[in-house]
Amino acid sequence: MANLQLTDGTPDVASDGVWLACIECGEAFAPFEAIRYTCDDCDGLLEARYADLPTWDDFEGEGVWRYSDALPFEVGVTLPEGHTPLHRVSRIEDEVGVDALRVKHEGMNPTGSFKDRGMTVGVRVAQEVGVDRLACASTGNTSAALAAYGARAGLETLVLLPAGKVAAGKVAQAALHGARILEVDGNFDSCLDIVQDLAHRGEAYLLNSLNPFRLEGQKTIGLEIMEEFRADYGDYPDRIVLPVGNAGNTAALYKCFRELVTAGAIEEGDVPELTGVQAEGSAPMVEAIEEGNDEIRRWPDVETIATAIRIGNPVNAPKALPGIRATGGTAVAVSDEEITDAQRSLAGEGVGVEPASAASIAGLRKLRGRGDVDDDEQVVCLTTGHLLKDPDAAATAGADPEPVPNDTDDVLAHLANR
Ligand code: F0G
Repeated sequence: MANLQLTDGTPDVASDGVWLACIECGEAFAPFEAIRYTCDDCDGLLEARYADLPTWDDFEGEGVWRYSDALPFEVGVTLPEGHTPLHRVSRIEDEVGVDALRVKHEGMNPTGSFKDRGMTVGVRVAQEVGVDRLACASTGNTSAALAAYGARAGLETLVLLPAGKVAAGKVAQAALHGARILEVDGNFDSCLDIVQDLAHRGEAYLLNSLNPFRLEGQKTIGLEIMEEFRADYGDYPDRIVLPVGNAGNTAALYKCFRELVTAGAIEEGDVPELTGVQAEGSAPMVEAIEEGNDEIRRWPDVETIATAIRIGNPVNAPKALPGIRATGGTAVAVSDEEITDAQRSLAGEGVGVEPASAASIAGLRKLRGRGDVDDDEQVVCLTTGHLLKDPDAAATAGADPEPVPNDTDDVLAHLANR
């Protein structure tokens, strides 16, 4: 395994032991003095760094802010978020044939997706740097989360969505929480291009996962999984399987593990293999992993039922590809049909998720079927968004309602007929 230690010393620009570092050239920047999303020198992605990294005994409380010692603030703009269930799914576990399978259901966050973990930190940073307008491009969940956290903070919020390609529940959330919704005649990647332009012109504070502080909140998924899994099984999971869109979550989990290794909280051998899943119609990360490329080829035309991950240009790939490789993980593409089957299987165990989330189970199934996952592995699949986010997909995947007469005997007769 590659060396996962974070090694540089504390630079002069650090503020309260926090700074931003470029992942390409290593340049360090003050965290909150000026707004920047990428490196001034080389345009590389930035990540937050800390002079002191905590270990398990430093954490107390519940949810994202249990891990405040690993975050830039003591508390954020909170609803509150995190502390999501790590479900047992014994029927899928038996069917897939692994030693243990747990499902971390991030759909149980306040707005129904893992994005809340990033927003509680990101909107707190927006307050710190003193902006008055927040913005994001979104396939839906980021916009719902930003709208809610922006409302909580009393800040104006602008969301750019690909017209006609966002699930109904997510648009409804953004609308009711009071975001201005701009529907762009293009896909998510075009929305992100525009919102980045707006941010660079100083028109809005960008809260997509390009913003390094979003990923700080999201890394707490990894901290929760490691603590909870160890409490139940006495060990850490061998593998974490997750849906990939912009690859922010993959990047956040990798950072989580590198920080735990650097702090001495876990050994390098404890780091789970990061395993990314994309939809076949939208799989540039899988292509890069399979072909061994360091750079992503942008897919101009993307399509999948899993609209949350309908993304052709994953901007966090420079952080996420090394994460998949360094942890010994892999990436796999699944069909829309496989996604819907997995969504039904999860629902059959009481776990209601949106299509993108089910991609993790579909991917595990496929990898196990190919023999790329062994039968003695202990696996956690991430389900990233709630079933109610996409009621149309749920209704299509589920059973049709049966019309019956307004009479008990007729209802019984109808039931007996089947
Ligand atoms: N699952 C769901 C339900 C999502 O909404 C997203 C991303 C992902 C997985 C992929 O996560 O981007 O970190 O790889 N949704 C973003 C949005 C793009 O705008 O809501 P990622």
